[in-house]
Amino acid sequence: MRKKWAMANWKMNMTPTEARAYMTKMVPRLKSKDTEVVFFVPSIDIEAVVSETSGSNILVGAENFYYEDKGAYTGEISIDMIKDAGCKYVLIGHSERRNIFNENDDLIHKKLLKAIEKDIGIVLCVGESLSQRENGDTFTFIESQLKSAFDNIDKNQLKNIIIAYEPIWAIGTGKTATDDQAEEVCAYIRSIIKKLYDNDAADNMNILYGGSVNANNAKNLFDMPNIDGGLVGGASLKEEFENIVKRD
Ligand code: PGA
Repeated sequence: MRKKWAMANWKMNMTPTEARAYMTKMVPRLKSKDTEVVFFVPSIDIEAVVSETSGSNILVGAENFYYEDKGAYTGEISIDMIKDAGCKYVLIGHSERRNIFNENDDLIHKKLLKAIEKDIGIVLCVGESLSQRENGDTFTFIESQLKSAFDNIDKNQLKNIIIAYEPIWAIGTGKTATDDQAEEVCAYIRSIIKKLYDNDAADNMNILYGGSVNANNAKNLFDMPNIDGGLVGGASLKEEFENIVKRD
């Protein structure tokens, strides 16, 4: 049985003071028996969020890192740094990193290899643009993103990897993919994992949906057979996130 996940992606929001205040209020409200909760936060907020979540089941992740261990990379942070600060997860391949910061498939692959080597949890994002969807290129594009990311990665290196399907046209737009659209692509992603590895790898892979998830649509999305939870941007900055975690 795969778990359900409710993951927050704060993006470039929340000062450390705001982060602390939000977590003080929310941590007691985010207890859930059957949903794992992870907060991806800006690196400057990691310390505050790790300290506010200590003693809870909530885990903290970094939104970004560089794939080298150390050295002359002004402005970057390494996996050793974020692990030392208490992070259990990293986000790789988010469309905002790909599109605004020009992260290409090669860089994403290098980050994936480093995160596997460092034994940290990984959420790998894939997803098509609106024009790719309209041109009928969704499946071929997502297959190419997955093939490039998983190049030379063995089945026994998959255990820390979660995939997030995030159609770019649904991110921050308020335009959520329908349950069926999200399910269709998540099922397709699972079929690609089966093709690249085997049945067992496909069955065990956690696959999330992200893109305008909110308190109203989370339950139906998370209940789809191939969707194991969500990566939540805007709604994770609000009290509404409690309803996404609990879905009652
Ligand atoms: P959104 O962002 O929920 O604000 O659409 C999701 C994401 O980018 O991870």
